[in-house]
Amino acid sequence: MATPSDLERLASIPLDSFEHTDSRNLFEKCERFHAYASSVRELGAFQVQYRIELLGPLDARITVRDAFTGDVKEMICFDSNSYLGLHLDPRVNEAVKKAVDDVGFGTPSAQVLGGTNRYLRALEDRLSELHKREETLIYPSGYQANVGILTALMDPGDLAVVDHVSHASIHDGVRYAGCRSMEFPYRDVDALDALLAEHREEVNGVLIVTDGMFSMHGGLADLPGLRRVADAHDARLMIDDAHSLGVIGPTGLGIEEHYDLEGAVDVLMGTFSKAPGAAGGYVSGDSALIEYLRFMSRGALFTATLPAPTCAGVLESIRIMHEEPEHRERLWANARRFHAGARAAGLEVPELESPIVAIQVGDEKWLIPLAFALYEAGVKCGIARYPAVPHHHSILRFTMNARHTEADIDHTLEVLASLWAQLGIG
Ligand SMILES: Cc1ncc(COP(=O)(O)O)c(C=O)c1O
Repeated sequence: MATPSDLERLASIPLDSFEHTDSRNLFEKCERFHAYASSVRELGAFQVQYRIELLGPLDARITVRDAFTGDVKEMICFDSNSYLGLHLDPRVNEAVKKAVDDVGFGTPSAQVLGGTNRYLRALEDRLSELHKREETLIYPSGYQANVGILTALMDPGDLAVVDHVSHASIHDGVRYAGCRSMEFPYRDVDALDALLAEHREEVNGVLIVTDGMFSMHGGLADLPGLRRVADAHDARLMIDDAHSLGVIGPTGLGIEEHYDLEGAVDVLMGTFSKAPGAAGGYVSGDSALIEYLRFMSRGALFTATLPAPTCAGVLESIRIMHEEPEHRERLWANARRFHAGARAAGLEVPELESPIVAIQVGDEKWLIPLAFALYEAGVKCGIARYPAVPHHHSILRFTMNARHTEADIDHTLEVLASLWAQLGIG
């Protein structure tokens, strides 16, 4: 069992200290990290550093096996991206089973070879229709979509300007693309404008890139401001709207629908790994853009396609999220309840803009004991420390779900309030 001084020691070890080595032994950093991770395991601080094994479905309540002691326990889970719980909907799973019976569980070939199954095409067409775009291209994952899009589009003479808080796959894509890159502060379109005023003439093409709904902080990008700046500087705009589908906008169509700015985004990227409840990524846009990516984006070209049964399941979950607003309404009611309760308990949370409620913890010296105590109390939430967020800006991320009950939320708030007081945070 971890003592406060054990936890303090863990918090004092920054994870970036494992990223490099000066040793001739290439694996020296791996060995150092392994020793660190073993000590975390021995302390039972799983939520801090070690993956938790689920014995049943990923749901509002989960059954987990403690990987070290083997104990089994039930937890309230705020760590599922399946906001509406659609991956558990019998109709979705029936659609998946039908496709398995029809074409088998995988479609292992690249899209341009034998991998373009009719389920994949139907899903691409449905997304184009929903987003009112000419075409859509599906990737096997959202990460791969971002890297695949950016490496195909950006040349060394081009500039990518990225919101600092954007998802890691965007930062990685820009890095791998080898183009010029700059970052602007979280949602700060004035800073973006100033950057482009200074540097626009030094480069060829410019792409502004940002999350639509931010995965760590839960805020929404300022789409009207971004579009205005893009137009003023002859730049294109790419939005990663992974978290918005099924969640944001009057009918769950995402950030463009939220701002009533249909067509404002030039490169509209999304994933199936959030509300659609599966895995996979996509990009929707003009035919010229999508056809170029279909053939030039190595992340789509040199890889096996998303399996047909997954496409069939996503098609069904998109149908449900579109036709049955009650799931989204329950999600938002839960988010409002949790957010109001957290504020009433004196916790620092930003304005409610999405179902991600990010409790600002700050220094890692608070985060580690909190994460540990929450795990002990049966609450599973996101623990965001460097490199997911900058140093000293750590966050407890509560991702709300349509399947949480009011009792789940109220109990969690009580646990949080009492831990806050016990640890004397702030
Ligand atoms: C904003 C954002 N973009 C992209 C991704 C990557 O998506 P996937 O998990 O489908 O690879 C994620 C997933 O965490 C995300 O939050």
